[in-house]
Amino acid sequence: MKKGIWVLNGPNLNLLGVRRPEIYGKTTLKEIQQELEGRCREEGVPLVFHQTNHEGVLIDLLHEAREKAHVVILNAGAFAHTSIALRDAIEAVGIPVIEVHLSNPQAREPFRRHSYVAEVARGVVAGFGALGYRLALEAALHWAKEKEASS
Ligand code: DQA
Repeated sequence: MKKGIWVLNGPNLNLLGVRRPEIYGKTTLKEIQQELEGRCREEGVPLVFHQTNHEGVLIDLLHEAREKAHVVILNAGAFAHTSIALRDAIEAVGIPVIEVHLSNPQAREPFRRHSYVAEVARGVVAGFGALGYRLALEAALHWAKEKEASS
């Protein structure tokens, strides 16, 4: 199977829609997944979508993506602010990672203002709610097509 786009979601994102909707919106993760799947189907690009509450699982998924993904879209949740291991994994796999946050962490509590992921991400999309995943997907599709053409 040809390589595709992997969308990885970290802790508590399974609760989207019910968790602090005034900050994260009412759209569920399932609805986001379905929208991205529809867009990728139009483009004929495979999409893999995961959510995990476990740091090690997220790192394992990134390692797996090394062989299988052209681009990773990653909402690491709070691990973005805490995990050097995740940062190192992104650096180690060497594929472009687009960091996504539904909220704008820069406009929130001080402990959210630093992201280890951003240090090694190709790009960052934050503050657009669920739309941020669609915006990141357009960039990911662009790069995935470029890579597919040159492989
Ligand atoms: C988040 C922002 C993080 O600070 C927070 O811990 C989350 C969600 C976002 O999508 O806005 O869990 O990643």
